[in-house]
Amino acid sequence: MNTAAEGDNIVLIGFMGAGKSTVGVELAELTGFSLLDVDQRIVECCGRQIAEIFAQEGEELFRQCETEALHALQAVRRSIVATGGGIVGRQENWELMRRLGPVVYLRCSWPVLRQRLEDASGRPLADGGDWQQVEALWRRRLPLYELADLCVEADQGTPGEIARRILLQLGRGEAQ
Ligand code: S3P
Repeated sequence: MNTAAEGDNIVLIGFMGAGKSTVGVELAELTGFSLLDVDQRIVECCGRQIAEIFAQEGEELFRQCETEALHALQAVRRSIVATGGGIVGRQENWELMRRLGPVVYLRCSWPVLRQRLEDASGRPLADGGDWQQVEALWRRRLPLYELADLCVEADQGTPGEIARRILLQLGRGEAQ
């Protein structure tokens, strides 16, 4: 557990559909922290939606923007940082995330993720309808997500309940 940075930020990681943004809203509410979304930062910085960046520039440039967005966030304090599902792929991103605060993985099973992704759109890596490919991506990333400082079960419960679970497991009083 990364205790040195506790009290500063909390970083949320997990696959697409794990609920990083919705749980992030609840965590921000419970802690009084600001909610910062890395994808949102990229959209603001590039003036384009994520799907457009993927389509026009390719994934590699998006990944570069992701790392740059993490660099740009290094001075933030008292924030919940919601990340994109692929942020775990670069070692540099891990160093940047860990400097921000404890990295918390929202752990979901594939059936739950698939259901949520079927109901949602706007994600270039999940919009093709090739679920075998998306599941394979999830499987490849699983060992990376498990490197988080804290892994929290996120299949069940409302975003508020999951947020409370996180604070409890981080040993933070705000949840009580
Ligand atoms: C991605 C996840 C997305 C977004 C981009 C790539 C991924 O974020 O960063 O579409 O590689 O898993 P969410 O996890 O918030 O959907």
